[in-house]
Order: sequence, then structure tokens, then C-alpha cells
Amino acid sequence: MDVLVTGGTGRLGQRLVEPLQAAGHAVRQMSRRGTGPGGVRGDLATGRDLAMALAGAEAVVHAASDPRGDPWQVDVAGTRRLVEAVDRDRLRHLVYVSIVGVDRIPYGYYRAKFAAEQVLLASGLPVTLLRVTQFHDFVDFLLESARRGPVLPVPMGWRVQPVDVGEVAAHVADVVGRPPAGGVVEFAGPEELSAADLARAWAAVRAPGAHVVATPLPGKLGAAFRDGAALPSGGERGRRTYAEHLHA
Ligand SMILES: NC(=O)c1ccc[n+]([C@@H]2O[C@H](COP(=O)([O-])OP(=O)(O)OC[C@H]3O[C@@H](n4cnc5c(N)ncnc54)[C@H](OP(=O)(O)O)[C@@H]3O)[C@@H](O)[C@H]2O)c1
Repeated sequence: MDVLVTGGTGRLGQRLVEPLQAAGHAVRQMSRRGTGPGGVRGDLATGRDLAMALAGAEAVVHAASDPRGDPWQVDVAGTRRLVEAVDRDRLRHLVYVSIVGVDRIPYGYYRAKFAAEQVLLASGLPVTLLRVTQFHDFVDFLLESARRGPVLPVPMGWRVQPVDVGEVAAHVADVVGRPPAGGVVEFAGPEELSAADLARAWAAVRAPGAHVVATPLPGKLGAAFRDGAALPSGGERGRRTYAEHLHA
């Protein structure tokens, strides 16, 4: 199929080209500047060049997102723009990359992702909403950002099940070739860990000497992560552990 990947320059988007091509698809990667091999321009926030980017696409992997900017404009309104610009006669599958727990974790960005899912469900398009847990690389980034010199504060009791981004990419490529689920499916890493477990493993390899301090985080967001709202309830699993990722 002719597959358009939105978010082609992102952590996941960049990894999608290889497994999609290996599965026999022709791949184009959309981003605002259209950089990279197979790169095409398209801006979800304004709609600019979207119709051109989507022209001819038989499958779309929608992995663009703007968590640190305006997710209501890019993720929600942008998904609506994408739905309007897509070639309905040609499209056979749209896979939306979402996050495990967006329906139950009270966090603004997750609410926007959940709203984007609703836009797709209401669109009548052949969709699969693929909810994935946190990528190992993203965990690394969060821990590096949280470190304050020798101290590494993490929320006490948060439970997560991170996943290797390469395995997510391989799974997405597989899902693209399956019939659309018409709803939510999940994909997660192999093991549940606490935020403190992750931080200790990370610090041992990436920041020796850093001291992990688990700090209680009051409020509904903290409670949701402690209650396991970010953990998968079903679906397939990757095999690569966070420790293997760190030692690679
Ligand atoms: N990171 C995680 O741990 C994780 C876990 C589960 C699910 N997810 C989901 O997986 C998807 C990919 O995540 P990621 O971490 O790979 O994202 P990322 O690295 O932050 O990349 C975001 C992508 O979105 C594009 N983008 C941003 N604003 C845009 C706009 N206005 N128009 C068009 N494209 C735009 C960016 O392209 P340019 O800036 O180059 O235009 C970039 O390619 C997201 O939907 C995310 O919610 C992520």
C-alpha cells in the first residue's frame, strides 16, 4: 500500500519507515518541513499542504502530536483536518498511535489524545486506535530532565510498563496490514515497573552516583498512576526490557 506516516520526524515516526518498507509498502513521511527521505510537507495546525500529503494514501499511520505546544490545535483539530483531507475512496486503514490510559488519566495532553480518538471513531473511516505505553527513550528523556545534580526525584508508587520504540514500530507495521479494529487495541512492554525502579536502573547506567528520591505526588493524576491507570489491560507485548534497552 501507499502509506503516509504523520509525525515522520518524531521518535516513533523515524523508526516506522524500515518495517513498513520491509512489509512491502511505499512510505511517505509527513512533517511540517517535509525533511528526510520520502518526506512530504503537511501542517496539522493550519491544514497547509495536508490534502497534497494525503493524496493517494491507502493507509495512514497518524503519529504526529504536539504534547508541549497546543495538542488541542494539533492533535484534536488537526486530526479533524486530517479526516477531512483524506481520500475516502482509497483509504483502507488509518492507524492512530495513542497512549494506554488516555481514557482514565486526568492529564490535559491525555484528554486531547482521547478527544482525537473520538474524532476518528466518529469519522466512519476504517480505523485502529493503537494505545501504546511510554517508550524507553521517552523514559530516558524524562529522567534526564528530572535530575537535579546528584538528586533524581521521581513520583512515589507510579506504575508503568514502558516499551521499546523499535518494537512499537514493528508492531505498527504489522497492524497496518491487518483489518481495521474499529476501536482500541493496546501494545505494551514486557514488565510492570515502578518509577523508582526505572530511575534506579537508569541512574546506574547513565548517571552513576545520582540518588533516587521517591516523592509522594498528591492529587488525581498521581492517584491514577499509582492505581495502575497507565498499565495495559490486554493486547500484545514487546519483549525487550528497559534494562536491555539501557545496556544496548
Ligand atoms: N513518546 C512516548 O513515550 C509515547 C508513548 C505512547 C504513545 N505515544 C504517541 O506516539 C506518537 C508519536 O510520539 P513521539 O514521541 O514519536 O512524538 P515526537 O517525537 O514528539 O514527534 C512528534 C511529531 O509530530 C510532528 N508534528 C508536530 N506538530 C505538527 C504539526 N502542526 N503538523 C504536522 N506534524 C506535526 C513533528 O514533526 P515536525 O516538528 O518535524 O513538524 C514530529 O514528527 C504520539 O501521538 C504520541 O502521543 C508516544
